[in-house]
Amino acid sequence: MTHQEIRKKFLDFFEKRGHKIIPSSLLVPEDKSVLFTTAGMQQFKKYYLDNDSPYGNKIASIQKCLRTVDIDEVGDESHLTFFEMLGNFSFKFPEAKDSYFKKEAIKHSYDLIVNDFGVPLRRIKISVFKGDDKNDISIDQESLEIWKSLGIPEEKIFFGEIKDNFWGPTGEEGPCGPTTEIHIDGIEVWNIVFNEYYCNKEKHLIPLQRKGVDTGMGLERLVMVLQGSKSVFETDLFSPIITELRNKNLYDYQSNQKFERIISDHLKAGVFVISDGVMPSNLGRGYILRKLIRKIMRHSKKLNLHDDFLQRSVKTIINIYKEYYPDLEKNEEKVLEVFNEEFQKFEKLLSREIPKIEKDVEEFKNKGYKFIPGAYVFNTQSSIGVGVEIVQDIAKEKGMEINMEEVKKEEEKHKKVSRVSQDKKFIKL
Ligand code: GLY
Repeated sequence: MTHQEIRKKFLDFFEKRGHKIIPSSLLVPEDKSVLFTTAGMQQFKKYYLDNDSPYGNKIASIQKCLRTVDIDEVGDESHLTFFEMLGNFSFKFPEAKDSYFKKEAIKHSYDLIVNDFGVPLRRIKISVFKGDDKNDISIDQESLEIWKSLGIPEEKIFFGEIKDNFWGPTGEEGPCGPTTEIHIDGIEVWNIVFNEYYCNKEKHLIPLQRKGVDTGMGLERLVMVLQGSKSVFETDLFSPIITELRNKNLYDYQSNQKFERIISDHLKAGVFVISDGVMPSNLGRGYILRKLIRKIMRHSKKLNLHDDFLQRSVKTIINIYKEYYPDLEKNEEKVLEVFNEEFQKFEKLLSREIPKIEKDVEEFKNKGYKFIPGAYVFNTQSSIGVGVEIVQDIAKEKGMEINMEEVKKEEEKHKKVSRVSQDKKFIKL
């Protein structure tokens, strides 16, 4: 099944069950407390509180999302920064007779995954919320019983703590609640959230007047399990990009798998982010874009990719998605221009800063330092824009090392001060 067929099957399934299909919103959300759209429900957040919505009480969508919480995981089998999220949503408006909650939400997900997509039960495991004494939320016995009534054996159903089976809110405040998740071949594929609470800015949970459903299923992971691929990078959402990178045989694929995965993920994220109007800068979302582009550049040098890989890969990415996001094609020139300019700027910065860093490292060495201090490395990265890996290379050349623990401590210190709750999956209660 191609990703096109999978998208269509999902949307048709929910349309047939009375859901209005809503297009993806931009990656730059209206909610000022988040940098990027990180979930399908974000554009519908207010309807969990309102009495009505322009789309009725049942919605389904495929939403483009960007999350940076997992950025260090990118390169493994299933983590990404840019991804699309398939979701169905139900709001219990006072007049709405056919809104649904746990029973129907779970039944829908079972029908789609098991009956329509044909995933055998042996590949499926389920998690449900085990409750949380601290917040006085009881175990989700109801979901457990619903799954059992559908034929999922009890030994395949696991109880998860608040950190794993409670979702939201996105941003500083909003709807949130216990979840039940479908795992296929050990990979979390579908997160079904029962929005029963409103989490306010003080992080207090207030029961919602009307409960709602919000589900999120990562398209890339679903495609991976349905196409029987070993990783998201071997699905038809990524393999054309990887093929393009390998096109001229410039590097050894086996030993550089992680780097080609990071490049293809970050390139895709960059294409979408720029097309949605973000420009590289030293602040907020522009800074995230800058970091993504610089990482592409660093890794592409490692793989000996020449400058023309950029144009070819961007085109390949646009070809995969243009049917669903026609703006990409319109913005192709702009996207390339931004990438190229940023590459040049970074090149210039490196040729200006590297001699200075070499001199500093030499000095640390002459002064008898055992390691390059963490604060120095952190500052080089955050204020000057030269990443740890580059400083590490210079240090190695001069026979020195970086104290990574100190660097991490500095990063943590900084994160605490400037934490933006942009894409925390779980609230800290
Ligand atoms: N809103 C549900 C999810 O992002 O998993």
